[in-house]
Amino acid sequence: MNKDLIKQKTEHINDILKEYLPENTNCGRICEAMGYSVLNGGKRLRAIMLLEAFRMFCVDEIQEKKFAEPFACALEFIHAYSLVHDDLPAMDNDVLRRGKPTTHVKFGHAMGVLTGDALLNLAYETISAVETDALSDDGDAAKRVLKALHTLGEKAGFSGMVGGQVLDTTEKYDPKITAKGFNEIDSLELSNFDTNKLKYTLHIYELKTSELFEAALMCGAILGGAAEKEILAMERAGRALGLAFQIEDDILDITSDASVLGKSTNIDEKNGKDTAARILGVDQAVMLVKFYTDTAIDAILNTDRDTGFLEDLFESLVMRKL
Ligand code: IPE
Ligand code: IPE
Ligand code: MG
Ligand code: MG
Ligand code: MG
Repeated sequence: MNKDLIKQKTEHINDILKEYLPENTNCGRICEAMGYSVLNGGKRLRAIMLLEAFRMFCVDEIQEKKFAEPFACALEFIHAYSLVHDDLPAMDNDVLRRGKPTTHVKFGHAMGVLTGDALLNLAYETISAVETDALSDDGDAAKRVLKALHTLGEKAGFSGMVGGQVLDTTEKYDPKITAKGFNEIDSLELSNFDTNKLKYTLHIYELKTSELFEAALMCGAILGGAAEKEILAMERAGRALGLAFQIEDDILDITSDASVLGKSTNIDEKNGKDTAARILGVDQAVMLVKFYTDTAIDAILNTDRDTGFLEDLFESLVMRKL
Protein backbone atom coordinates (compact mmCIF):
# COMPACT_ATOMS: atom_id res chain seq x y z
CA MET A 1 0.00 0.00 0.00
CA ASN A 2 1.30 3.43 -0.93
CA LYS A 3 1.64 5.18 2.47
CA ASP A 4 1.73 8.70 0.98
CA LEU A 5 -1.48 8.06 -0.92
CA ILE A 6 -3.31 6.81 2.17
CA LYS A 7 -1.98 9.75 4.19
CA GLN A 8 -3.20 12.17 1.54
CA LYS A 9 -6.65 10.58 1.51
CA THR A 10 -6.83 10.59 5.32
CA GLU A 11 -5.90 14.27 5.40
CA HIS A 12 -8.52 15.07 2.78
CA ILE A 13 -11.18 13.41 4.95
CA ASN A 14 -9.93 15.35 8.00
CA ASP A 15 -10.26 18.60 6.03
CA ILE A 16 -13.82 17.94 4.94
CA LEU A 17 -14.81 16.74 8.43
CA LYS A 18 -13.67 20.11 9.75
CA GLU A 19 -15.84 21.86 7.16
CA TYR A 20 -18.94 19.92 8.16
CA LEU A 21 -18.47 20.11 11.93
CA PRO A 22 -20.40 22.98 13.54
CA GLU A 23 -18.94 26.13 15.00
CA ASN A 24 -19.75 27.09 18.54
CA THR A 25 -23.36 27.41 19.60
CA ASN A 26 -24.86 28.71 22.80
CA CYS A 27 -25.21 25.14 24.02
CA GLY A 28 -22.31 24.72 26.38
CA ARG A 29 -19.43 22.51 25.33
CA ILE A 30 -21.26 20.35 22.79
CA CYS A 31 -19.36 21.60 19.71
CA GLU A 32 -16.06 21.22 21.51
CA ALA A 33 -16.98 17.67 22.55
CA MET A 34 -18.09 16.78 19.01
CA GLY A 35 -14.82 18.11 17.58
CA TYR A 36 -12.86 16.25 20.24
CA SER A 37 -14.61 12.98 19.40
CA VAL A 38 -14.23 13.27 15.64
CA LEU A 39 -10.95 15.10 15.04
CA ASN A 40 -8.81 13.11 17.43
CA GLY A 41 -7.08 10.85 14.95
CA GLY A 42 -8.89 7.86 13.49
CA LYS A 43 -8.02 6.01 10.33
CA ARG A 44 -11.03 7.38 8.38
CA LEU A 45 -11.38 4.01 6.69
CA ARG A 46 -15.12 4.10 6.20
CA ALA A 47 -15.06 7.57 4.64
CA ILE A 48 -12.12 6.66 2.39
CA MET A 49 -13.91 3.50 1.29
CA LEU A 50 -17.11 5.38 0.53
CA LEU A 51 -15.29 7.84 -1.74
CA GLU A 52 -13.31 5.07 -3.43
CA ALA A 53 -16.47 3.04 -4.04
CA PHE A 54 -18.04 6.16 -5.56
CA ARG A 55 -15.05 6.59 -7.90
CA MET A 56 -15.35 3.01 -9.09
CA PHE A 57 -18.65 3.97 -10.72
CA CYS A 58 -18.45 7.72 -11.31
CA VAL A 59 -15.51 9.95 -12.04
CA ASP A 60 -16.99 13.41 -11.66
CA GLU A 61 -15.38 15.80 -9.21
CA ILE A 62 -18.46 17.97 -8.78
CA GLN A 63 -20.74 15.06 -7.94
CA GLU A 64 -18.09 13.64 -5.65
CA LYS A 65 -17.88 16.92 -3.76
CA LYS A 66 -21.62 17.53 -3.62
CA PHE A 67 -22.95 14.05 -2.93
CA ALA A 68 -20.24 11.61 -1.94
CA GLU A 69 -18.28 13.86 0.45
CA PRO A 70 -21.24 14.78 2.70
CA PHE A 71 -22.05 11.04 2.92
CA ALA A 72 -18.44 10.19 3.74
CA CYS A 73 -18.48 12.75 6.57
CA ALA A 74 -21.87 11.57 7.81
CA LEU A 75 -20.57 8.01 8.00
CA GLU A 76 -17.52 9.15 10.00
CA PHE A 77 -19.86 11.07 12.35
CA ILE A 78 -21.90 7.92 12.88
CA HIS A 79 -18.76 5.84 13.40
CA ALA A 80 -17.39 8.41 15.89
CA TYR A 81 -20.69 8.45 17.80
CA SER A 82 -20.67 4.65 17.93
CA LEU A 83 -17.19 4.76 19.50
CA VAL A 84 -18.16 7.44 22.04
CA HIS A 85 -21.12 5.33 23.15
CA ASP A 86 -19.12 2.08 22.96
CA ASP A 87 -16.67 3.51 25.50
CA LEU A 88 -19.33 4.57 28.03
CA PRO A 89 -19.27 2.95 31.48
CA ALA A 90 -22.52 1.08 30.70
CA MET A 91 -20.93 -0.46 27.60
CA ASP A 92 -17.18 -1.21 27.37
CA ASN A 93 -16.22 1.22 30.12
CA ASP A 94 -13.07 2.33 28.35
CA VAL A 95 -10.91 5.31 29.23
CA LEU A 96 -8.60 5.57 26.22
CA ARG A 97 -9.51 6.19 22.57
CA ARG A 98 -7.18 7.23 19.75
CA GLY A 99 -4.48 7.89 22.33
CA LYS A 100 -6.57 10.31 24.38
CA PRO A 101 -9.06 10.13 27.27
CA THR A 102 -12.44 8.95 26.00
CA THR A 103 -15.14 11.59 25.51
CA HIS A 104 -17.01 10.78 28.75
CA VAL A 105 -13.75 10.81 30.73
CA LYS A 106 -12.88 14.22 29.36
CA PHE A 107 -16.35 15.84 29.39
CA GLY A 108 -18.38 13.76 31.85
CA HIS A 109 -20.79 10.84 31.42
CA ALA A 110 -23.87 12.84 30.40
CA MET A 111 -21.85 14.69 27.77
CA GLY A 112 -20.63 11.34 26.41
CA VAL A 113 -24.23 10.30 25.79
CA LEU A 114 -25.19 13.70 24.38
CA THR A 115 -22.14 14.01 22.12
CA GLY A 116 -23.04 10.68 20.53
CA ASP A 117 -26.63 11.86 20.06
CA ALA A 118 -25.46 15.13 18.51
CA LEU A 119 -23.09 13.40 16.08
CA LEU A 120 -25.79 11.00 14.95
CA ASN A 121 -28.14 13.89 14.19
CA LEU A 122 -25.38 15.86 12.51
CA ALA A 123 -24.89 12.93 10.13
CA TYR A 124 -28.41 13.16 8.78
CA GLU A 125 -28.40 16.96 8.86
CA THR A 126 -25.25 16.90 6.70
CA ILE A 127 -26.72 14.53 4.13
CA SER A 128 -30.08 16.23 3.88
CA ALA A 129 -28.32 19.54 3.15
CA VAL A 130 -26.90 18.29 -0.18
CA GLU A 131 -27.43 21.01 -2.72
CA THR A 132 -30.75 20.59 -4.50
CA ASP A 133 -29.60 22.85 -7.36
CA ALA A 134 -27.03 20.28 -8.26
CA LEU A 135 -29.68 17.58 -8.04
CA SER A 136 -31.97 19.21 -10.59
CA ASP A 137 -29.30 18.80 -13.30
CA ASP A 138 -29.72 15.07 -13.09
CA GLY A 139 -33.15 13.56 -12.43
CA ASP A 140 -31.61 10.40 -11.09
CA ALA A 141 -29.32 11.98 -8.51
CA ALA A 142 -32.10 12.73 -6.02
CA LYS A 143 -33.20 9.09 -6.17
CA ARG A 144 -29.65 7.90 -5.58
CA VAL A 145 -29.22 10.18 -2.58
CA LEU A 146 -32.45 8.88 -1.04
CA LYS A 147 -31.53 5.27 -1.68
CA ALA A 148 -28.10 5.77 -0.12
CA LEU A 149 -29.68 7.56 2.83
CA HIS A 150 -32.03 4.64 3.40
CA THR A 151 -29.14 2.18 3.20
CA LEU A 152 -27.13 4.19 5.72
CA GLY A 153 -30.06 4.39 8.15
CA GLU A 154 -30.69 0.67 7.89
CA LYS A 155 -27.06 -0.38 8.23
CA ALA A 156 -26.38 1.93 11.18
CA GLY A 157 -29.59 1.25 13.04
CA PHE A 158 -31.48 -1.24 15.18
CA SER A 159 -30.97 -4.20 12.84
CA GLY A 160 -27.43 -3.14 11.93
CA MET A 161 -24.61 -1.61 13.98
CA VAL A 162 -26.82 -0.70 16.94
CA GLY A 163 -28.37 -4.19 16.92
CA GLY A 164 -24.87 -5.68 17.04
CA GLN A 165 -23.94 -3.47 19.97
CA VAL A 166 -27.10 -4.66 21.75
CA LEU A 167 -26.08 -8.30 21.38
CA ASP A 168 -22.47 -7.49 22.23
CA THR A 169 -23.29 -5.78 25.49
CA THR A 170 -26.41 -7.43 26.82
CA GLU A 171 -27.17 -10.91 25.56
CA LYS A 172 -25.98 -14.36 26.44
CA TYR A 173 -25.18 -16.32 23.30
CA ASP A 174 -27.95 -18.08 21.44
CA PRO A 175 -26.86 -21.43 19.95
CA LYS A 176 -29.56 -21.22 17.26
CA ILE A 177 -28.03 -18.13 15.62
CA THR A 178 -25.48 -18.51 12.85
CA ALA A 179 -23.43 -15.85 11.10
CA LYS A 180 -23.85 -15.63 7.32
CA GLY A 181 -20.08 -15.96 6.97
CA PHE A 182 -19.74 -19.01 9.21
CA ASN A 183 -20.21 -21.80 6.63
CA GLU A 184 -17.65 -20.15 4.37
CA ILE A 185 -14.82 -21.08 6.75
CA ASP A 186 -15.42 -24.87 6.57
CA SER A 187 -12.36 -25.24 4.34
CA LEU A 188 -10.06 -23.82 7.04
CA GLU A 189 -10.32 -26.96 9.22
CA LEU A 190 -10.20 -25.10 12.52
CA SER A 191 -9.92 -27.13 15.70
CA ASN A 192 -10.47 -27.00 19.47
CA PHE A 193 -13.10 -24.32 19.72
CA ASP A 194 -16.74 -23.91 20.70
CA THR A 195 -18.63 -23.88 17.38
CA ASN A 196 -21.83 -22.31 18.70
CA LYS A 197 -19.95 -19.52 20.40
CA LEU A 198 -18.01 -18.74 17.23
CA LYS A 199 -21.16 -18.76 15.07
CA TYR A 200 -22.85 -16.36 17.43
CA THR A 201 -19.83 -14.09 17.84
CA LEU A 202 -19.37 -13.75 14.08
CA HIS A 203 -23.07 -12.93 13.82
CA ILE A 204 -22.50 -10.04 16.26
CA TYR A 205 -19.50 -8.87 14.19
CA GLU A 206 -21.55 -8.91 11.00
CA LEU A 207 -23.88 -6.46 12.72
CA LYS A 208 -21.74 -4.26 14.94
CA THR A 209 -18.80 -3.91 12.53
CA SER A 210 -19.60 -5.18 9.02
CA GLU A 211 -22.78 -3.15 8.62
CA LEU A 212 -20.90 0.18 8.63
CA PHE A 213 -18.36 -1.14 6.12
CA GLU A 214 -21.27 -2.36 3.99
CA ALA A 215 -22.80 1.12 4.27
CA ALA A 216 -19.51 2.69 3.13
CA LEU A 217 -19.10 0.52 0.05
CA MET A 218 -22.79 0.41 -0.87
CA CYS A 219 -23.51 4.13 -0.39
CA GLY A 220 -20.48 5.02 -2.51
CA ALA A 221 -21.64 2.60 -5.21
CA ILE A 222 -25.28 3.76 -5.08
CA LEU A 223 -24.32 7.44 -5.33
CA GLY A 224 -21.99 6.62 -8.20
CA GLY A 225 -24.85 4.98 -10.11
CA ALA A 226 -23.87 1.30 -9.76
CA ALA A 227 -26.26 -1.43 -10.93
CA GLU A 228 -28.10 -3.55 -8.34
CA LYS A 229 -25.81 -6.53 -8.93
CA GLU A 230 -22.76 -4.34 -8.27
CA ILE A 231 -24.29 -2.86 -5.12
CA LEU A 232 -24.84 -6.40 -3.81
CA ALA A 233 -21.22 -7.31 -4.57
CA MET A 234 -20.15 -4.28 -2.51
CA GLU A 235 -22.38 -5.45 0.32
CA ARG A 236 -20.73 -8.89 0.29
CA ALA A 237 -17.32 -7.22 0.34
CA GLY A 238 -18.31 -5.05 3.30
CA ARG A 239 -19.57 -8.04 5.26
CA ALA A 240 -16.38 -10.06 4.78
CA LEU A 241 -14.13 -7.05 5.37
CA GLY A 242 -15.95 -6.18 8.59
CA LEU A 243 -15.42 -9.72 9.88
CA ALA A 244 -11.70 -9.56 9.04
CA PHE A 245 -11.43 -6.10 10.58
CA GLN A 246 -13.16 -6.98 13.85
CA ILE A 247 -11.23 -10.25 14.26
CA GLU A 248 -7.97 -8.31 13.76
CA ASP A 249 -9.23 -5.81 16.36
CA ASP A 250 -9.70 -8.75 18.78
CA ILE A 251 -6.19 -9.96 18.01
CA LEU A 252 -4.72 -6.50 18.65
CA ASP A 253 -6.58 -6.38 21.97
CA ILE A 254 -4.55 -9.45 22.99
CA THR A 255 -1.21 -8.85 21.28
CA SER A 256 -0.72 -5.08 21.10
CA ASP A 257 0.18 -2.39 23.55
CA ALA A 258 -1.98 0.61 24.52
CA SER A 259 0.83 3.03 23.61
CA VAL A 260 0.76 1.75 20.01
CA LEU A 261 -2.93 0.97 19.71
CA GLY A 262 -4.17 4.21 21.29
CA LYS A 263 -6.85 2.29 23.19
CA SER A 264 -6.81 -0.02 26.18
CA THR A 265 -5.63 -3.58 25.61
CA ASN A 266 -6.94 -6.76 27.26
CA ILE A 267 -10.23 -4.96 27.72
CA ASP A 268 -12.14 -7.79 26.04
CA GLU A 269 -10.92 -10.27 28.64
CA LYS A 270 -11.57 -7.76 31.41
CA ASN A 271 -15.16 -7.34 30.16
CA GLY A 272 -15.60 -11.11 29.74
CA LYS A 273 -16.14 -10.81 25.96
CA ASP A 274 -16.11 -14.00 23.90
CA THR A 275 -14.17 -12.52 21.00
CA ALA A 276 -13.28 -14.64 17.96
CA ALA A 277 -9.60 -14.39 18.90
CA ARG A 278 -10.30 -15.66 22.42
CA ILE A 279 -12.56 -18.48 21.15
CA LEU A 280 -10.13 -19.65 18.44
CA GLY A 281 -6.73 -18.58 19.76
CA VAL A 282 -4.66 -15.95 17.98
CA ASP A 283 -3.11 -18.24 15.32
CA GLN A 284 -6.43 -19.56 14.05
CA ALA A 285 -7.93 -16.07 14.27
CA VAL A 286 -5.18 -14.81 11.93
CA MET A 287 -6.26 -17.48 9.42
CA LEU A 288 -9.79 -16.08 9.53
CA VAL A 289 -8.60 -12.52 9.01
CA LYS A 290 -6.74 -13.60 5.86
CA PHE A 291 -9.63 -15.69 4.64
CA TYR A 292 -12.27 -12.96 5.02
CA THR A 293 -9.96 -10.36 3.49
CA ASP A 294 -9.58 -12.56 0.40
CA THR A 295 -13.35 -13.03 0.32
CA ALA A 296 -13.83 -9.24 0.40
CA ILE A 297 -11.35 -8.79 -2.45
CA ASP A 298 -13.06 -11.49 -4.53
CA ALA A 299 -16.38 -9.73 -4.02
CA ILE A 300 -15.20 -6.35 -5.32
CA LEU A 301 -13.43 -8.06 -8.24
CA ASN A 302 -16.89 -9.28 -9.27
CA THR A 303 -17.80 -5.75 -10.31
CA ASP A 304 -15.29 -5.67 -13.19
CA ARG A 305 -14.35 -2.11 -12.27
CA ASP A 306 -11.00 -0.62 -11.30
CA THR A 307 -10.64 -1.91 -7.74
CA GLY A 308 -6.85 -1.58 -7.37
CA PHE A 309 -6.85 0.92 -4.51
CA LEU A 310 -9.51 -0.89 -2.50
CA GLU A 311 -7.76 -4.25 -2.96
CA ASP A 312 -4.53 -2.78 -1.58
CA LEU A 313 -6.37 -1.06 1.25
CA PHE A 314 -8.16 -4.27 2.30
CA GLU A 315 -4.88 -6.18 2.17
CA SER A 316 -3.09 -3.54 4.26
CA LEU A 317 -5.55 -4.03 7.13
CA VAL A 318 -4.59 -7.68 7.69
CA MET A 319 -1.52 -7.11 9.83
CA ARG A 320 -2.26 -3.51 10.83
CA LYS A 321 -0.74 -1.98 13.96
CA LEU A 322 -3.85 -0.01 15.00
C1 IPE B 1 -12.86 0.77 15.80
O1 IPE B 1 -12.82 1.13 14.46
C2 IPE B 1 -14.10 0.00 16.08
C3 IPE B 1 -14.13 -1.34 15.48
C4 IPE B 1 -15.03 -1.68 14.63
C5 IPE B 1 -13.15 -2.31 15.87
P1 IPE B 1 -11.53 1.78 13.79
O2 IPE B 1 -10.34 0.93 14.12
O3 IPE B 1 -11.79 2.02 12.37
O4 IPE B 1 -11.41 3.14 14.59
P2 IPE B 1 -10.68 4.51 14.20
O5 IPE B 1 -11.73 5.33 13.54
O6 IPE B 1 -9.51 4.24 13.32
O7 IPE B 1 -10.28 5.07 15.53
C1 IPE C 1 -16.65 -2.44 17.89
O1 IPE C 1 -16.17 -3.24 18.87
C2 IPE C 1 -17.37 -1.23 18.38
C3 IPE C 1 -18.41 -0.64 17.56
C4 IPE C 1 -19.11 -1.19 16.63
C5 IPE C 1 -18.70 0.76 17.89
P1 IPE C 1 -15.09 -2.90 20.01
O2 IPE C 1 -15.76 -2.54 21.27
O3 IPE C 1 -14.15 -4.05 20.03
O4 IPE C 1 -14.32 -1.63 19.43
P2 IPE C 1 -13.10 -0.94 20.19
O5 IPE C 1 -12.05 -1.99 20.40
O6 IPE C 1 -13.62 -0.38 21.47
O7 IPE C 1 -12.64 0.11 19.22
MG1 MG D 1 -17.56 -2.75 22.21
MG1 MG E 1 -14.97 -1.12 22.77
MG1 MG F 1 -12.04 -3.94 20.34
